[in-house]
Amino acid sequence: MNVAAIPQKTTVQSIAQMKGRARVAALTAYDFPGAKLLDEAGVPFLLVGDSLGMVALGHPDTTHVTMDDMLHHTRAVVRAKPSALVGTDLPYRSYDSPQQAVANARRLVEAGAEFVKAEGGREILPQVEAILAAGIPFCAHLGMLPQHLVEEGGKYRIKGRDDAGRAKLLDDAAALDAAGAFACVLELVTPPVAKEITAACPRMVTIGIGSGPDCDGQILVTSDLTGAFPWFTPKFATPRARTGEEIRRAVGEWMASLGS
Ligand code: KIV
Repeated sequence: MNVAAIPQKTTVQSIAQMKGRARVAALTAYDFPGAKLLDEAGVPFLLVGDSLGMVALGHPDTTHVTMDDMLHHTRAVVRAKPSALVGTDLPYRSYDSPQQAVANARRLVEAGAEFVKAEGGREILPQVEAILAAGIPFCAHLGMLPQHLVEEGGKYRIKGRDDAGRAKLLDDAAALDAAGAFACVLELVTPPVAKEITAACPRMVTIGIGSGPDCDGQILVTSDLTGAFPWFTPKFATPRARTGEEIRRAVGEWMASLGS
């Protein structure tokens, strides 16, 4: 009798075990078909990122994204029953205190998230420790922090360029690793510093975005890979498909076939 292989569920532990052994491929997912397609392609790590504010909801930045948005999109992704590990961003101002962080992290877990992610280093350590103490796996996010973009004058700046910036990143990463964060997104960190953080953290899996090749894994906003948001592509991303153009072509062909 042939028994169809049941894809193994990716867990926080299986991602953690990849450190130093295999590169982690991670992508963002915001809805049911997106999650199903990425899961069928074998991506082990899906993030319901608050980048959905820009690429799915039409906001100028992530500061407009609410807990209700994140809950709604997490539920849609989880309905795809992915084998991939699924985590969700705590949105802007949803983790100002440890109590608020735990309450909102619990709501995301109830919606189906298997881990939560929040932006920042030592300044959010009490929140991180409280989330972990509540038994919720935590993914950190260092470097360019999109939720602080407006405060920083609206410019996407590379982090770790000077000695002070490098030292702060290394110190933040060490504190988050020691606290028990299983992973950490490194966004727009200079490649040598991202490499140094990756080597210096014995447990935490580093997942780079625009931070060079020497992280434990890489993450992209999926539309930057598929060309589904053709109005903006960051410099470090190379689209490998042009789905936006395909949609325009298919719609144009169909309208022409109607004589429209
Ligand atoms: O919100 C998001 O999509 C993210 C990625 C840039 C990692 O945090």
